[in-house]
Amino acid sequence: MINKSERISTDQKTADAFAASWNNLPSGSVYTQEQFNDWLDPLKSEDISGKTVLELGCGNASLMVYLLGWHPEFLVGVDLGDCIETAKKNLSVLNFTNWKIIKDDLTLFKRDGFDVVYCIGVLHHLKNPAAGFNSVIANTKPGGKFHCWVYGREGNGFVVFFVDPLRRLVCRLPWWLIKYFIATPLAVPFYGYANFLSHAPKFYFLRKFPLYDYCLWIASREFSFFCHVVFDQLVTPQTTYLDQATIRDWLGSYPQIDSDSVYLIRRNGNSWKFGGIIKKTGVN
Ligand SMILES: C[S@@+](CC[C@H](N)C(=O)[O-])C[C@H]1O[C@@H](n2cnc3c(N)ncnc32)[C@H](O)[C@@H]1O
Repeated sequence: MINKSERISTDQKTADAFAASWNNLPSGSVYTQEQFNDWLDPLKSEDISGKTVLELGCGNASLMVYLLGWHPEFLVGVDLGDCIETAKKNLSVLNFTNWKIIKDDLTLFKRDGFDVVYCIGVLHHLKNPAAGFNSVIANTKPGGKFHCWVYGREGNGFVVFFVDPLRRLVCRLPWWLIKYFIATPLAVPFYGYANFLSHAPKFYFLRKFPLYDYCLWIASREFSFFCHVVFDQLVTPQTTYLDQATIRDWLGSYPQIDSDSVYLIRRNGNSWKFGGIIKKTGVN
């Protein structure tokens, strides 16, 4: 059983670590439009247009900058870290004013309800991921949609057995040491491996190599994105790799979720996207 103060202090350390990541990047989004579309899928622009939308754990607003292009009525981003200042800078250069960034613990954040709530790359970094999912559901209006993406346990054996022990060891070091002296050198073989798999003939045996689908996905990005991903993996004090059974359990334990609307999609062989719709009335 995790007590509330332990949960909040671990999450604050995680948010501080990510702020070091987000606040030391070039301005703008770290993602491409294609990556944004892929992360949000099956949500499309028509699900967002004219709707009130909440992102829980918005980082430097790398997803929000694209989401505004889908014309929500209003978009709110919540994050516990000092990255909110970078998020505000990234949004204020755009031609939109229908947004707000709030510094808060997402597990405690509660408003009247949004038409769409999304939470990408965050729940697996919380001390209590289920508390984060609870907030996703609690902030989605009756009739509204929610959408999450998390690191999977399935397909991530290499990361769990080799990268995660390294993370536990190095995450206490200063961010610049992790970034420039550990993550960047490690990104070199990772970049080579991903590009090898992406250019090699699609032999059946190669598909059995660790992180095969993920490598095909990331290989389209430049070296600096690989550095960002490795740094993100190593800088955080808390990561949980969530299995399919846990997510199914979450989705099945809220009577207000319309069970016919639920989806659980394996992404790039090593992560999960899931979501659904909150019933319009009652909880039967
Ligand atoms: C990997 S980043 C993802 C950011 C963004 N969703 C994206 O995909 O670019 C995780 C974010 O969750 C935030 N975070 C972690 N724990 C939090 C909490 N309890 N409340 C609010 N934000 C939190 C971190 O500060 C960090 O910015």
